[in-house]
Amino acid sequence: MNTEMEKKNSAYAALNYVKEGDVVGLGTGTTVKFFIERLAEEIGQGLSVRCVATSKNTEHMAKSLGIQVFDNVSKIDVDVDGADEIDGNGNMIKGGGGALFREKIVAYNSRKVIIIADSTKLHPEGIGNFGIPVEVNPFLSQNTRYNLERLGGICKFRDEGNFYTDNGNLILDCHFGIISNPVHMEQNIKMIPGVVEVGIFTNLANTLLLGRESNIEVVNFNRKQ
Ligand code: 5RP
Repeated sequence: MNTEMEKKNSAYAALNYVKEGDVVGLGTGTTVKFFIERLAEEIGQGLSVRCVATSKNTEHMAKSLGIQVFDNVSKIDVDVDGADEIDGNGNMIKGGGGALFREKIVAYNSRKVIIIADSTKLHPEGIGNFGIPVEVNPFLSQNTRYNLERLGGICKFRDEGNFYTDNGNLILDCHFGIISNPVHMEQNIKMIPGVVEVGIFTNLANTLLLGRESNIEVVNFNRKQ
């Protein structure tokens, strides 16, 4: 399996969902990088779009390629982002790159969310084995960890507590195994004081472009808005 090729095929196919004049959400990660490079080429050939970035890394890359990036926009037409795991209903684990906070805000506020991913990301049996990245405020973060573990999992601070998000917060990588009810789990984790955002994304993906070595598989989900 050529994962790089799968990522490229998926990322390049996402360009078909971008139209002249769109406001585009730029996700974060190695797959999205291919999309941003190709988007910059299209802009160089005359396409006019404005963008919102889900992380400082993405913002830096986009700006270095001449893409206009804004912090406040009234609408986002299409968001293109990656995933760490996705199931057959579009439930996802995100946050492997630590950008889940802005990624969720951008996805929620986007009319259409296109997920680009190599074939290893699809988990029809259910999501969760990757772990659930949870962004937590540093204040009383050991207590927040304890409260998360009371839900039945094991949580470890990313990079032994040395990983800080763009928002100055920590990431707890929490392992609960396969999640039987992602919607409930997302809500239960979000309820814990100290949790800033949880890397379970439900009812946000419209379309998955699953990269294969020589083509892509398009999976549409029933997102209720
Ligand atoms: C970052 C993310 C990424 O979308 C996710 O980690 C996938 O990244 P990659 O395309 O590098 O596999 O959620 O917070």
